[in-house]
Amino acid sequence: MNESPPIKAVATGAAPSGASDEKSAAIAVQHMFNEIAGRYDLLNHVLSANVDRLWWRRTARKFRHILSRPDAAVLDLCCGTGDMALALRRQAPANAQPYVGADFSHQMLRRGSDKFKGRGIVAIEADALQLPFPDGSFDLVVSAFGFRNLANYDAGLREIHRVLRPGGEFGILDFAEPGGLFGKVYTFYFRNVLPKIGGLISGASGAYEYLPASVKRFPAPQQMQDEMRDVGFTEVSWTRYTFGIAGLYRGRKATSKS
Ligand SMILES: C[S@@+](CC[C@H](N)C(=O)[O-])C[C@H]1O[C@@H](n2cnc3c(N)ncnc32)[C@H](O)[C@@H]1O
Repeated sequence: MNESPPIKAVATGAAPSGASDEKSAAIAVQHMFNEIAGRYDLLNHVLSANVDRLWWRRTARKFRHILSRPDAAVLDLCCGTGDMALALRRQAPANAQPYVGADFSHQMLRRGSDKFKGRGIVAIEADALQLPFPDGSFDLVVSAFGFRNLANYDAGLREIHRVLRPGGEFGILDFAEPGGLFGKVYTFYFRNVLPKIGGLISGASGAYEYLPASVKRFPAPQQMQDEMRDVGFTEVSWTRYTFGIAGLYRGRKATSKS
């Protein structure tokens, strides 16, 4: 049985149906998340049987060595309704400086900023490909289930690299395509059952057809790690979560140019 992920044609970025270029892809993604924002949290928990909470928590724990520092500057990129940022914040000491959650969907971010109140997280409406932060602003950038939706993955990685301080780290938590027999059963659920349930509950069938299509299009772990190294990240890795349904990419911005 071949457990290794399939080699995919290298995708430059997300391409929702009907999008003809990067600009129209980004607009379609933004529109889609604005449309489903009201039901997003409910659907996440239903469709993942609450495993999403474990993935956010597990991801946050991986960065405890940074989050335990009161002065750590932390960005949750594509924060949406905010659960990744909240999981990161739970690892922070009481005197930690505020974290930042950024997203370009006004409706998703509105729900996120409601949850952030009194939790030491600031919500900023911003495009991940053109972040309004100076070079070297953050010690940690984490993105959960957001990066895959960017219209240009290479540009997304470069922007993360730019806003990180030398020695800073990033984590990208996202879906993957598991292999083997389990992968076949799961892929059937993901491509045939999930879009129907998602469409029924959200009333926006397109968004939940886009989800498996975007995961299929997203670079496989080996390719993604190559792209991360090309951009200049070191200590690049991918850790499989829950039989490879999801996984965490990690990397570090080098401390000096060599
Ligand atoms: C699947 S949701 C993930 C939300 C949250 N991180 C979570 O774990 O539930 C993807 C989010 O990425 C955001 N997003 C996609 N492309 C973006 C971009 N170019 N700039 C900023 N946010 C973006 C969407 O608006 C959406 O809120």
